[in-house]
Amino acid sequence: MGIKQFPKDFIWGVATSAYQIEGAWNEDGKGESTWDHFTHQPHRIINNDTGDVACDHYHRMPEDVQLIKNLGVNSYRFSVAWPRILPDGKGKANDKGLDFYDRLVDEVLKAGLQPNLTLNHWDLPQALEEKGGWSNRDTVDRFVEYADIMFKRLGDRVDIWATHNEPWVIAFLNYGQGMFAPGISDYSRAYQAVHHLMLSHGKAVQVFRQGAYRGQIGIVVNLSWFEPATDHEQDLAAYRRAIMNQESLFIDPLYKGCYPAELIEWLGPMAPRVEPGDMEIIQQPIDYLGINHYSSARIVYQHHSNFLKFGSLDLIEPGMGHTSMGWGIYPDGLRKLLIDISKKYNYPPLMIAENGCAMPDQLTAAGKVNDNRRISYLQHYLNAAYQAIQAGVNLKAYYQWSLMDNFEWSSGYSQRFGLVYVDYATQKRTPKKSYNWYRKVVKNNGLEE
Ligand code: FCB
Repeated sequence: MGIKQFPKDFIWGVATSAYQIEGAWNEDGKGESTWDHFTHQPHRIINNDTGDVACDHYHRMPEDVQLIKNLGVNSYRFSVAWPRILPDGKGKANDKGLDFYDRLVDEVLKAGLQPNLTLNHWDLPQALEEKGGWSNRDTVDRFVEYADIMFKRLGDRVDIWATHNEPWVIAFLNYGQGMFAPGISDYSRAYQAVHHLMLSHGKAVQVFRQGAYRGQIGIVVNLSWFEPATDHEQDLAAYRRAIMNQESLFIDPLYKGCYPAELIEWLGPMAPRVEPGDMEIIQQPIDYLGINHYSSARIVYQHHSNFLKFGSLDLIEPGMGHTSMGWGIYPDGLRKLLIDISKKYNYPPLMIAENGCAMPDQLTAAGKVNDNRRISYLQHYLNAAYQAIQAGVNLKAYYQWSLMDNFEWSSGYSQRFGLVYVDYATQKRTPKKSYNWYRKVVKNNGLEE
């Protein structure tokens, strides 16, 4: 049997984020995060679940790193809980919080893995939210102070850094739709948050360069694959708005130093306030662009949908269906997306920072999880990544989401994304069939044909 080989130095990994796995929400001096605050309000989350305990990773970290080591991957993507470092969002750093990530990074290195650290995977200190959160320009400088603390502490050991995870989600689900913490629905604030996230990214990259740290730095954006549903002018225009709002709004400033003019015009008074010099700061050279990819859609003009007037129809590969999240499975969307982004932005180094699926996994009486549909999902998406590389895409890494089942934001514990099954009552971890499958892929540095 032949193997579809990935590039020699390809990075294989798994990803998690702090709030989704750590628990210990108020231990060792940690401050309240927006997600602590939000989940402690009734009816925000399915079953009123919270991340108070989550996977109890804070107390089981060495065991979890061992699981990653045994998987054979060469990198681990995790995030730092900002309020563990700065409980009130500013002032003196909390030593115990810093110590935890110090130990984590050392454990990861000891296991032979490259640490890939995300500074902001959504859990903002609640103290900053109370002053307006990401829609307050002051949060930009608070983020840079926090980033500087982390660079100084771990810059000698971390290989890959990301400033923000999915600024689209932070801006639009937190402050636009209000589905995520802090649960605000105000698109003027959401677009202002976009600008502050991008500006804080640029300023943090500047500080990173000044420190001449050894690692690479980038940002992680969430991108679905979109295509116009028809070639009617109204659908094409709706498609352009969808692309500008998801993609160009975040990637153009990085590589071209501007926001998409057509979208800004459409937004009118909701467009963000930008100060002179901001765009130059955002356009700092980055070492890679991280992409999280989960779904694909055909875009149609829809008059009554929202102010952007587009609707989306799930694209699904015949026979592959949906994940438990209800997201259509369309592996070729990943291939098309990677090629399209590469062409538009002149073949930048890309990393898939997340890809994976929630499935209705069951632990059998024999203590096994036979998650064949996850294996099929990963096989198809990795094949799409392979084809993109063959087509010239400069893809450096693939991180599967997620190492283990965890707290899936407003869906609580109802969704299982892990390669490892977590029994939340006992915290027992059981590697699923997909864990062994992925181990083989990594060992072969490729896919069996
Ligand atoms: C992404 C998030 C990640 C996880 C996956 C399923 O949007 O970055 O934390 O929840 O979705």
